[in-house]
Amino acid sequence: MSTLPSWLIYCRPGFERDCVEETQAKPIETEDNSGYVVLQGKPNLAYRQLAFARQLLRLHTEVRELPERDRLSPLLAAIPATPEKFGALYLEVPDTNEGKTLSGFTRRFQPLLEDPLRKSSRLVDDPALPRLHVFFPDSQRALIATSDPLNSSAALNGIQRVSMAGDAPSRSYLKLAEAFEVFLDRKEQASWLKPGMTAVDLGAAPGGWTWQLVQRGLKVVAVDNGPLKGAAAGHPSIRHLRQDGFRFRPQRPVDWLVCDMVEQPQRVAALMTEWFVNGLTQRAVFNLKLPMKKRVAALHEALNGIRTAINAKGLRYRLEAKQLYHDREEVTVFLARKR
Ligand SMILES: C[S@@+](CC[C@H](N)C(=O)[O-])C[C@H]1O[C@@H](n2cnc3c(N)ncnc32)[C@H](O)[C@@H]1O
Repeated sequence: MSTLPSWLIYCRPGFERDCVEETQAKPIETEDNSGYVVLQGKPNLAYRQLAFARQLLRLHTEVRELPERDRLSPLLAAIPATPEKFGALYLEVPDTNEGKTLSGFTRRFQPLLEDPLRKSSRLVDDPALPRLHVFFPDSQRALIATSDPLNSSAALNGIQRVSMAGDAPSRSYLKLAEAFEVFLDRKEQASWLKPGMTAVDLGAAPGGWTWQLVQRGLKVVAVDNGPLKGAAAGHPSIRHLRQDGFRFRPQRPVDWLVCDMVEQPQRVAALMTEWFVNGLTQRAVFNLKLPMKKRVAALHEALNGIRTAINAKGLRYRLEAKQLYHDREEVTVFLARKR
């Protein structure tokens, strides 16, 4: 292998080119709809700054033509000597139909590979240590990689699993749940999503995002001309206003602004920025629907517009964008004040 670092990145199938464009690294393996890319040549990549990367891994080596009878020996032989110890072992597959057919195998194989690594003390349970990833693009090939816990996703396959509330009015409930898991650590969730806090949800109907906030004890103003459904309709913690989300402004600042209106990304970004710079909200989670072409350029334009306007006010802030597992042709953005 060359001395330039190689990267293995997982992404939503169909977004491989966006992934490459965003990193500006040299593409080594980028097959459309494969759900992953191999890149080379950038000494440093930052997971949190890559919207299309579900997972960011240092690729060490690859094993081809894995024999069906004994996959264990060649894989053990290929595990790099450094780092000396790993904090976890992840056996992973692409998020494709072929990948799904391999997940039964990885579950069965996990203890077989774990056992010798634990016995030789190379695998210990320590979340601060690099994780070892063995990624199977198909049943005969494995890419062996590691992740830095501070610069990667802690979730298997880079997919943060969240659970559905039985009474949620829509599956969008899962998307905001995932956004909170991906963007906020445990401490931030505990201090920023406290019962009694306030939120505005623009484009709230039928009420999945509003319901996610209500489940966390927040009081929500849900703005949408459409109806809220199920348990969200008439709930005492929700005030439903049939108004235009672009015109609505709260009388008092709120803790959270969330927005899922299907609109031009520039328009949504400008609205979020206005609320933020005027102190109407401390934090925001919003979706930017991406165009079919030039998605990276459209996303960067929207994010740069936000940065420029907030920088001009001299405010300190955090701005991150990720294409979540529950996002299709869109990206979810988190914006927060920093003290
Ligand atoms: C994708 S849906 C939102 C789903 C919602 N987040 C949930 O969890 O159930 C988009 C919503 O935005 C609303 N919408 C679009 N433009 C709007 C506007 N200008 N003002 C208020 N709501 C708007 C639509 O009526 C629609 O209900």
